[in-house]
Formats: sequence, C-alpha cells, structure tokens
Amino acid sequence: MEYSTQKAEAFIQANTGSVNPLFRPHLHMAAPIGWINDPNGFSYYQGQYHMFCQYYPYQAIWGPMHWGHWTSPDLMNWTWRGVALAPDSPFDNLGCFSGTVLVKDETMYLMYTGVHKNSRGIVVQEQCLATSKDGLTFEKHPANPVITSAHLPAGSDMVDFRDPKLMPHGDGYRVLLASRGEHSGLLLSYLSQDMVHWTYEGVFADGISLMPECPDYFHLDGKDIVVTCLMNQPPEGLKYQNDHHAVVYILGDEMAGRFIPQEHHSIDLGQDFYAPQTLLTPDGRHVMIGWMQMWGEAPPTHYLKHNWQGLYTFPRQLSLRDGKLCQQPIEEIAALYEREVTMHNQQVEGTLSLPGVEGSPSSLQVELTNMKQGKADIHLMQQGEMFALLRYDAASGVLSLDRSRLYYPVLALPGQEAHDVAAVQLEKGLSSLRLDILLDTCSIEVFAQDGAAALTSLAFPKEGSAGIRFAGEYTVKELTFQTLKRAAE
Ligand code: FRU
Repeated sequence: MEYSTQKAEAFIQANTGSVNPLFRPHLHMAAPIGWINDPNGFSYYQGQYHMFCQYYPYQAIWGPMHWGHWTSPDLMNWTWRGVALAPDSPFDNLGCFSGTVLVKDETMYLMYTGVHKNSRGIVVQEQCLATSKDGLTFEKHPANPVITSAHLPAGSDMVDFRDPKLMPHGDGYRVLLASRGEHSGLLLSYLSQDMVHWTYEGVFADGISLMPECPDYFHLDGKDIVVTCLMNQPPEGLKYQNDHHAVVYILGDEMAGRFIPQEHHSIDLGQDFYAPQTLLTPDGRHVMIGWMQMWGEAPPTHYLKHNWQGLYTFPRQLSLRDGKLCQQPIEEIAALYEREVTMHNQQVEGTLSLPGVEGSPSSLQVELTNMKQGKADIHLMQQGEMFALLRYDAASGVLSLDRSRLYYPVLALPGQEAHDVAAVQLEKGLSSLRLDILLDTCSIEVFAQDGAAALTSLAFPKEGSAGIRFAGEYTVKELTFQTLKRAAE
C-alpha cells in the first residue's frame, strides 16, 4: 500500500463516522479514528502546545507509522490537526517511528526514526528530519536520513536504533538515541552544529535493559534525569509486571559527556503507562504525558471493533521531593472543575457511598486515616458488585488497583498475558493515605502521597457505571470531589 498525508486525511474524513463513541475519553487525547501509540514531539511553538503521535489511521491496530498532530492553548483542550508525516519516502517507507521536536529561530525541527530496507534488504532504522515554519505543515529534509547505520559504533545493531531525543547543547545540538548493543541496551550521543551533519560523541549510558526505548533527558531541581522504557524487563516483585515493558527514571549526573547513574525507579506502575515525553513549559514547569496503553493488550475498543485505540495520560507536572520523582495533574485542571463536593471526617464501617460523590469525568482527592482493619478499599466506576478495586494494605504497604471486576475485561493479544492487578509499594502502616484520582470514560489515574507513587490503568465499566464507594473500617478525613468539564471530544 502506498501512503501519503493526503490519502490518510481523505480516509479519516470519510470514515470517522464509523467510530463507536462509547469509550471515547473526555479529558484525554485520542485520535479521531485508528491506532495511536507513543506521544511524539511534545513542544511549544508560537503560543501553542504541540503533541504528535505514533499513528496508523486505517485500522485500530499498529501498522506503518504516520505522525498525527494536535495543538492546544492550555495543555488540556487539544485540537486535532491531522496527519503531519506519512511513510511516503524511500528512507521511511516502513514507518515514521518516534521522535522529538526542537524549536529554533521560529522553525520546528522534527527528528524521527525512518524505517526502511537498506540495499542488502535488511530493515534498518535511521534518523530523519522534517521542518515546519507554520506549525501545521511539515517538510522532510532533502538530506534525509541525517543519522544512518554508518554512524553506529561497532557492535550496535542497525535494526534497533531509534527514538531520537533532540536537544540544544552548548552552541549546537545533541541527540540521544536508543540502541541495542552487544551486551546491553545503550543510549548513544551525537553532536551537530546544524542538525543535518552529525558526529558520534560516544556512549551516553549503558547497561539499560536490552533496548531502552524512547529516551528522554532533562535537568530538574539540580539533578540530571534520564527517563526510558525498558523492553524485555522480567518482573521483579511488584515491578515490571507489564508484558516486560517498564518505564523508569534514572537519577544521576552528567560528566564529560557520559551519564553516571545513581539510582533508578519506576515512574508509574499501572498497567497502562509507556513512552512518556516531557516538556519544559514557558513558565518553567516540567510536564509529562505518556501513552495510556500497553503493548500486548486487547482492550474492548479492540475486540468490540470500535475503530479507535489508544489515548494519552492527563498532563502531569514533575518535581523532585526527597530524591524521588513526583507527579501530579497540572494545576490547569482547576479550569475544568464543574461541581464540587467537600466532606470531612466521614466514618466508614462496611460500605459507604457519599451523596454527590459519583460521576465521570471527575477528580477525587481523599485523605484516609484510622485504618482499623489494616486495609482501606475504594470502589471506583462502581455499579452493584462491579467496580475497580483500589486497596491499601497497611501490613504490606501495597497500594493496588484491580480492574478484574469490571464488566468489560482488558484481554491479552494471542501469546501475551492479561494483567488485571497493578500495585505499588508504599510505606507500611501509613497513618495518613492521600490519594488523588482522575477518572475518565475508560481510565483511572491514581497519584498517592502527593504524587510520590502513581498507578495508571485503562478500565472499562458497564455503560453509566460511575459510582464511588468506600469500603472497610477507616475515616475519610478529607474529601474533595469534582466533576470535570469535558476537555477532549
Ligand atoms: C515504543 C516504540 C518505539 C518506536 C515506536 C514504533 O512504544 O516501540 O521504540 O519508535 O514504538 O511505533
């Protein structure tokens, strides 16, 4: 099949009516039709935020990758701008894979991975540039591909060489690239003065799983931080339960062109969080958005043939607290508040539903104390005995989110395993558990202890199930519940 942006646009125009709206999110970005995975090119240009996506418009499954595009004035209301890149050139005809955007002198520079067959018939990944002077139309650079297999150090695999993170560096530019080395995954660094001619600087980081996809790198509160996605990472206790894919942040220091890692932690241990990108906003905040799905899953939008699949997390602001990366929904969310319910000191004994505390999209912030039975449960998206179970177990300190009691299961693709319970280790025996929960049509995002831990999962309730029920024996010391205006359609 020959691809082009025009062909994709015509297809989208003609077929969007076939999309079933049942699970379409109201707060989160989703493409009008078809499949999306990684967020790409998260940037700010001429007064607008820009987000691109790994996109296959023609079916709700992964296929030859295009880049879809949205813009937003406020990080919450996103307008779909159509298809920015199609796999229509000899250097990217098997896909325009993930990448990033750098804005320089009123021009947007998109760097992405072009997948194609080389002269020996091997499928290779090489790096390409596209530019835009209006933020709406994109032109591929005549020098593509600008970083090729010939730029690889000995031992690195030309088949897995992708996901450029393009950054300013000194008076020029740097790109970090994910690569599969002989013994482990590597991040390779390249330098340039013009973004077109690149020289290999060296290994920036090594020993990161077999292949550290979608690297990000930024400086926050005095630390250098690498964020990357580990492929083929075996489960370790509560960690990395997601089909061997995990997102970690690595704290360290850059010295002489090399990243010296100190410690690494998971960013979000929910089932559905991958390939995040961060952006430094004009007012100096680091905001992160991730793909809210996971490889290997078959959500109901897939098996019920709703003709769309994939959405992004709500934007989260990052901060470092006590040496840990914390994340919380951006403060702009206040503009979406519609109806507020606040309560104090509600005693829970058995099960308790509180008047007005139900509905979606919504935000629920609670502080739970006095957990007498050693555990505290909250039933989300509840109707009768169908609900997603959020549980804190004081003896183990584990906070878990179990979606197995919901009406529509998230199945696994053939050969993969389904995962219904996600869990994160908090302190044992907490005297105060603070939770900030964002609920949308088919997703739950939980931030615990002021964003020190996060669990993000897709969850598909029966139509209209938006109850919230407290269960166990504890005190809801503080509660603020908001129904939210719809930011996305
Ligand atoms: C991560 C990823 C990237 C790649 C893209 C392809 O989810 O595998 O490494 O560029 O998806 O769609």
